[in-house]
Amino acid sequence: MSEASLLFSRFHLKGLELKNRITMAPMFLGYANADGTTSPVLLEHYQKMAASGAALIVVENISVDPTGLVSPFTLSVHDDRFIPGLAELAGTIKGERALSFVQINHAGRYAFMPEKMAPSPIETWGVVPREMTGEDVDMVIRAFQAGARRVKEAGFDGVELHGGTGYLLVQFLSGRTNLRTDGYGGPLINRMRFPLEVVDAVMDEVGSDFPVGYRFLADEWLPDGLHPDETAPFARELEKRGVAYLSVMAGTYDSFFIPEYLDKERDEGYMVGFAAEIKRAVPKTPIITAGRIQSTETARMILEQEHADLIGLARVLFADPEWPKKAQGIVHSPIVVCEPTCSLCMKRVMKGRPAFCSQWPKEQRDKIRLLGPDDDEEEEAGL
Ligand SMILES: Cc1cc2nc3c(=O)[nH]c(=O)nc-3n(C[C@H](O)[C@H](O)[C@H](O)COP(=O)(O)O)c2cc1C
Repeated sequence: MSEASLLFSRFHLKGLELKNRITMAPMFLGYANADGTTSPVLLEHYQKMAASGAALIVVENISVDPTGLVSPFTLSVHDDRFIPGLAELAGTIKGERALSFVQINHAGRYAFMPEKMAPSPIETWGVVPREMTGEDVDMVIRAFQAGARRVKEAGFDGVELHGGTGYLLVQFLSGRTNLRTDGYGGPLINRMRFPLEVVDAVMDEVGSDFPVGYRFLADEWLPDGLHPDETAPFARELEKRGVAYLSVMAGTYDSFFIPEYLDKERDEGYMVGFAAEIKRAVPKTPIITAGRIQSTETARMILEQEHADLIGLARVLFADPEWPKKAQGIVHSPIVVCEPTCSLCMKRVMKGRPAFCSQWPKEQRDKIRLLGPDDDEEEEAGL
């Protein structure tokens, strides 16, 4: 099969047909209103992403409970009142003939507010979270369950559970962040328990006809963190439960800013090795891989060598929403690449500011700048 035809071949996922192998990996941008509702700029962004030609759009992490917000500008799904806004978002994406999933999340120790809860009281960004009680655990499981139900009611095609980036589901899985001595801590089998209970509760709620994907952390990229020796067995448990896909990633906020990670993440396809390793562990589960897949050539190689089934684009699609059309030869100009040394989008969201891309034209960047307090001119000028 030719380079383009494999990338643009159809793919079936739990009863859904993807028109090609390109997906938008979730990317939190800080465009939501401070009350967790959708804003015009957020709808406009997703409309553009859906119009890109990608088959499946996974909406950035949205919060299942106010205790788990990543930032004040995170979308929320902790109450039925959010359903109409989310329905508009689902409709916007589907209106462009893309499939729509939403990633649901609890940030645990990485929540933005000063009082946080986590599996264990481990200092995080200068704050010690309180250890979650049994009631907290039950409350969060119910929150994921209700969040998934609302996602389904809003008309999305599926839901993704955020088991990446070091958020709550990973905090329980990892022996670095889970020091509990009850049935949720200790050996791997106990550390898997909370994320698996979340998966079971969500699947029970939405039923077998509604796809549940999983953002999957294959490796924390820290010497004392999770590695495939523990994450591959966890993937097998997810496969047994029939998750729709694993969207494989590596690294957490504890590793994202260390020099080795920053170095690796400049390379094209820097997380593909992990995707391939997890794919070997769970051959029946579709695998999405992301991580600077800047060129059609890299995407083709990944699919051809069966390292993954689907390609995930986050910053890459943000930098060039015409990537799929350029790859398909519908638009004839070079792909605008995400600058490997930049990280402006990430730096901005880490500062609580709405993200934009250094590759965008000035007027487009200024439009986003106007949304919030800004003193980033210097930072941008230094790029
Ligand atoms: C600003 C920013 C926000 C992100 N937000 C999320 C998110 O909400 N959920 C998630 O699973 N991954 C998130 N990611 C990770 C991306 O989905 C993706 O795995 C990573 O950026 C590598 O793909 P890329 O090189 O195409 O960006 C984010 C990444 C960036 C840079």
